[in-house]
Amino acid sequence: MLIERAYVDLSEEARAESGDSWPWTVPCVRRLATDGLKFRAPVTFLVGENGSGKSTLAEALAEGFGLDSYGGSAGYKYASSREPSVLGQAIRFDATAVGRRMVRGPRTRRRGFFLRAETAFDVLGRARLSGAPEEMSHGEGFLMAFREKFRQPGLYVLDEPEAALSFSSCLELLGVLHELRRGGAQVVCATHSPLLTALPGAEIVEVGEHGMRSVEWDDELALVDHWRRYLTDPRAYLRHIID
Ligand SMILES: Nc1ncnc2c1ncn2[C@@H]1O[C@H](COP(=O)(O)OP(=O)(O)O)[C@@H](O)[C@H]1O
Ligand SMILES: [Mg+2]
Repeated sequence: MLIERAYVDLSEEARAESGDSWPWTVPCVRRLATDGLKFRAPVTFLVGENGSGKSTLAEALAEGFGLDSYGGSAGYKYASSREPSVLGQAIRFDATAVGRRMVRGPRTRRRGFFLRAETAFDVLGRARLSGAPEEMSHGEGFLMAFREKFRQPGLYVLDEPEAALSFSSCLELLGVLHELRRGGAQVVCATHSPLLTALPGAEIVEVGEHGMRSVEWDDELALVDHWRRYLTDPRAYLRHIID
């Protein structure tokens, strides 16, 4: 583990001013600002409906840790012109000894990767890989990048990495995440994947109107329940959508 808790450090003044503007209006961000977010396992999945705030959280965690907000490897600044986000700047960590050395030290000591959904292809295309990414499909390129770039202990913040991946590629990614945690890395991954979230020992944090709460894969996770029921009987859902 590198970070054990994330919280928000805002002056009273800033807190009063920020109250009714984005991102403080997003329930999970409000919860982060009042209670913080504890990391109880080396791999944490963020799940929840579209618009619930997973990307907002992921981006702030990456930025707070010092990973480039455009996405990409730690310790290397891409020509990103992104404004630092208010939340990313206000976020703080309770870190382990190893984590503290990365967060507090110079940028070159940071280790990790931020895979942002919108820029993933661009960033991974720039990563030097042993294969030729132009000749690979989207998914193949992603998988190769995961295998090659996700090795060092560091913070890996991934936003819906499953998007381009087939079932078996997704399983491979799960293997990569497992290797990462075995090597001392920490992963925070926003996802809709029932496959990834099944990683044993991972913590699942559900983000929503309620804020944030820890849930079990087996009997509490809505996305798993929906997939199970859909695959058993698609018509139960489709009759509400079609005709
Ligand atoms: N830059 C922004 N400015 C204002 N609102 C935003 C911005 N980015 C996201 N939002 C809003 O914040 C909420 C959470 O978005 P997001 O974190 O992208 O959700 P998710 O990743 O869970 O789908 C949404 O209501 C979204 O419209
Ligand atoms: Mg998102």
